[in-house]
Amino acid sequence: MAEEAILGFLQNNDEIAHSGYFAAEHNLDHEEVKNVIKSLQAFRYIEAKVLKREFFDLTDEGKKYAAEGSPEFHFFSAVPEEGTISMDDLQRMLDPFVFDVGSKQAPKKKWVAMGQQVSRTVQHVEDKVKEMLLQIQQGLELDQETLKSLKYRKLIILTEKWSGYSEVKKGPNYAPKRRSLATDLTRENLQNWQELDFKEYNVNAKGQPVDSGHLHPLLKVRKQFKDIFCQMGFEEMPTNNFVESSFWNFDALFQPQQHPARDSHDTFFLKAPSMTRELPEDYVARVKQVHESGGYGSRGYNCEWKREEANKNLLRTHTTAVSSRMLYALAKGPFTPKKYFSIDRVFRNEAVDKTHLAEFHQIEGVVCDRGLTLGDLIGVLQEFFSRLGMSNLRFKPAYNPYTEPSMEIFSYHAGLEKWVEIGNSGMFRPEMLQPMGLPEDVRVIAWGLSLERPTMILYKCDNIRELFGHKVDLKKVKENPICRIGIESA
Ligand code: PHE
Repeated sequence: MAEEAILGFLQNNDEIAHSGYFAAEHNLDHEEVKNVIKSLQAFRYIEAKVLKREFFDLTDEGKKYAAEGSPEFHFFSAVPEEGTISMDDLQRMLDPFVFDVGSKQAPKKKWVAMGQQVSRTVQHVEDKVKEMLLQIQQGLELDQETLKSLKYRKLIILTEKWSGYSEVKKGPNYAPKRRSLATDLTRENLQNWQELDFKEYNVNAKGQPVDSGHLHPLLKVRKQFKDIFCQMGFEEMPTNNFVESSFWNFDALFQPQQHPARDSHDTFFLKAPSMTRELPEDYVARVKQVHESGGYGSRGYNCEWKREEANKNLLRTHTTAVSSRMLYALAKGPFTPKKYFSIDRVFRNEAVDKTHLAEFHQIEGVVCDRGLTLGDLIGVLQEFFSRLGMSNLRFKPAYNPYTEPSMEIFSYHAGLEKWVEIGNSGMFRPEMLQPMGLPEDVRVIAWGLSLERPTMILYKCDNIRELFGHKVDLKKVKENPICRIGIESA
């Protein structure tokens, strides 16, 4: 509408003098007219000058001057045409405000000469201030200089700013109608090239950013671990059940029912369904037996073992729950040596801080064979971690209810210049393995570590909440390296 009106008008007229009047005459919205002028100007269909106007109101003082005349005019009028008058006399004659302002403004305007005596320096003056104020009252436009002086004397106040265009004329690309530019090199466009205007190529424009999926650092490090396990001949365990019974998570692992980890402060128990439906009864009986009174060379815990406690459902606190299920399944058939691994999520009811989350990932390796020793465990760990670039290991005796002996694993971190704990390990106890039905000479060595810790070291992240959970910085995920090789070089 506005565009047609403007281009159409300029076809028969030299210029649009004022965009505001033009909009009013053509019944158009001035904002729209302005936008069209701006756009047509950019494509050089037209030329235009920016027009800015300010609207003012008179202040109370300004209104008084407009009605009665300015103080300097009254001051001048009080001075006789010939001769002089004393300041004292003037002060007596005039209103104090008029005397005050007039005695400053009249000499400034060189209307009077002032000492003890005051005399006129010109015969006649015009009260310009009054005139200008009246013009403003009538809505007329005044020059910037005048407006500035009136503003300075606080006689007027800004009420509205207006902008528009003046002198809107044809530009070098003027046409009565805007041509749409062809943008694509289609077959049709090329065939009609003579009739078309092509949009110029902007060879400096940046291309669209290439969008694609990005692997989260945890997934990248998980892949590295998985590859190492696979290269070493390990099979992956099925870890697709976050909900587990206390039986498989604790009891099968010979963890006493009074153990603090089984408290709701450390473990998330399920409200519904709160109990597991099914457990292998004959095996449960052997587990109860070993807890209460021992066997297989053990004295047990000498405590009552409650089935209700074992039935309680929870979010698994470690992937060793999966290992216990796997070993039980393995014990059912004729024995074959096995190497298993898993990498999946576990849950602990912990206070969340920079290095702890209530859910994280565990990496676990399990080797079972006849006659394995602690030396085998150390050897496997050495092999496993050196494939990650961590060959400088140390072991520290530790305690787990289900392993004996147990060892914490430390690695020297060249970047951090200190020994950092990287995992926990041990040989599963006979009290765990024998009730499952594994042959007596079968030993199982195992170790576990978190996925988050090495990932934080590799990707230089010191707050676990930036790595996992709702505070993850997607920009970081997009920008971090495709992979990291070796933990020591990080
Ligand atoms: N389950 C242990 C943990 O949660 C790790 C571990 C696995 C320890 C296997 C010994 C053997 O820390």
